[in-house]
Amino acid sequence: MSGIIGYIGDRPVIPVLIDGLKRLEYHGYDSAGLAVIVRDSVFYQKTPGRIHNLEERINSHNHAGEIHGGGYGIGHTRWATHGKPTEENAHPHCDCTNNLFVVHNGLLENFRKLKKNLSAAGHVFRTETDTEVIAHLLEKYLAQLGALEQAVIRTAQDLTGQFTFAVICRQDREKIVAIRSGPPLMVGLGEKEYFLASHGPAILPFTTTVIPMADGEVAIISKDSVSLTGLDGQPRAPKIEQLSPDGTASERGGFRHYMLKEIFEQPQAVRDTTLGRVEHASGRVAFEELEISSAELKCIKKINIIGCGTSLHAALYGKYVLEALARIPVEVDFASEFRYRNPIIGSDTLTIMISQSGETADTLLAAREAKKRNSKLLAISNVLASTLIRESHGVICTRSGLERAVASTKAFTSQLTVLMLLSLYLAQIQDRIFWDNSSAYLEKIEDLPSKLEQLIGRRAEVLTIAQELADFRGFLFLGRGPHFPLALEGALKLKEVSYLHAEAYAAGEIKHGPLAIIDPSMATVVMATHDLSDSNSMILYDKMLSSIHEVKSRDGQVVALATDGDREVPKIADHTIFIPKTLNLLAPILEALPLQLLSYYLADIRGCSIDQPRNLAKNVTTG
Ligand code: AGP
Repeated sequence: MSGIIGYIGDRPVIPVLIDGLKRLEYHGYDSAGLAVIVRDSVFYQKTPGRIHNLEERINSHNHAGEIHGGGYGIGHTRWATHGKPTEENAHPHCDCTNNLFVVHNGLLENFRKLKKNLSAAGHVFRTETDTEVIAHLLEKYLAQLGALEQAVIRTAQDLTGQFTFAVICRQDREKIVAIRSGPPLMVGLGEKEYFLASHGPAILPFTTTVIPMADGEVAIISKDSVSLTGLDGQPRAPKIEQLSPDGTASERGGFRHYMLKEIFEQPQAVRDTTLGRVEHASGRVAFEELEISSAELKCIKKINIIGCGTSLHAALYGKYVLEALARIPVEVDFASEFRYRNPIIGSDTLTIMISQSGETADTLLAAREAKKRNSKLLAISNVLASTLIRESHGVICTRSGLERAVASTKAFTSQLTVLMLLSLYLAQIQDRIFWDNSSAYLEKIEDLPSKLEQLIGRRAEVLTIAQELADFRGFLFLGRGPHFPLALEGALKLKEVSYLHAEAYAAGEIKHGPLAIIDPSMATVVMATHDLSDSNSMILYDKMLSSIHEVKSRDGQVVALATDGDREVPKIADHTIFIPKTLNLLAPILEALPLQLLSYYLADIRGCSIDQPRNLAKNVTTG
């Protein structure tokens, strides 16, 4: 949820930290701070608001002496969980004597009790945060043990919850000590310099060689070396990995917003996600990295799919395609609900976790619950070096590249693509009758990127519609069958970036209540595509036409997504966005793009903070 950066080496430390914080800003951006030690001076600064506030404050102090000539330090950008986003509550947090400086990602479950005990022992608290107890515990144990790394290990024994943190200290100098417990953390390796980062992009300009820390590992970083231990103090062998060198993807290019850039990247993302997974000669699907054997998948009797937000909507699409093609019963769960409902799963259940980041706390906790119940875990994620992937039995990567806008776009269409391919793969393994028909699907899947490009080419029509709808009171999104998850996603995207009220329903439900909200100031966005080759699609299409009539007869405005060549929908809808022809189960992958554009343009017209919407963060690493 928040971002951590650290540096030790010969570069001027503050510019390195500020640069890293700017790259981390999409993980949390309500306040920021840093603490550095250069020779005998300590420089410590925090501000509410975005990183540029911190930068301005630092520049206004003109600490040229401290800023230049090496040194070491830590920085943090925060998304508030405990206490308001104020200067006091911003990280780093200190002990009673300003000896220790701590930055923390995660959420402490037992901080109230710890705070009470520490206060009773004379420690003076200055903030409302959970993190401050870490600083005071470190103070207590440093006094007893003498070495910072030992104090960190001892402190960790008192903590429950999620506590990835880094600390520097005046007393035990020339080192940064960091621990990972929950949210991710990695050490970046340079020439006689080391970096610390919660997320790779923060250090991408300086190094691509990293040691991703495992849960329960402690790193002791000095200018000359880095060593890892477990919580038992025993050395751990570092595993060195390379960050994907997509430094270019971390820049906005010519686009005004990352969200728009990422919408435009979807043809490539879907192409990359399909690459090498479709075998033309045999007409089969293959997943090289899956790591769950065909024999194991053949025995699967039930599938659970779990995710949050956009990934949950992908999961629901997965239910429609997996049941239609692989004929395996599928249950879909919000990750935050799954682990509290005593789910009935076992060794013949495949649990599919969907997460763009692979670091969403609720999703990770649900994955652990499923694993505890002997279910095989298959992770669908966009980040190979993520915790979810490390903890799962099998993995399918979505290959969308770094997604920086808080609103997920290209990761979503890639998730849908993976789920479609997986449905074909399981149909093939479980020998479903449908399998005879697979080549038609494979061919159409490979056409998706060019159809997404066509949709990008039609964006001006979506912009015109957005201009006409900008002052509407609210939006209702309707869909049926595999298009219903798209209605949910369309509404989520609109809320997220434009702050407009939006709801989604399975279209058959509107006469059971939602029709009451229809009036001329309410826009209804309907998924009304069809596929002549699919009888079920044609039944649902007819039903959708009736729903449009129901809305129109109450004076509602209708925006319809319809298939190229459709003559019925434009006669009754106020606005029609045409989608290139494809198979019914593939159409949602195309429908996503104009829905995203509609949200984007509405948000832009309304002057919203598109890439970093208010109250949101890209990765929700607290459960
Ligand atoms: C997407 O637009 C949202 N920002 C959010 O719902 C997101 O999909 C959710 O937090 C899950 O994230 P994940 O896919 O990284 O697990």
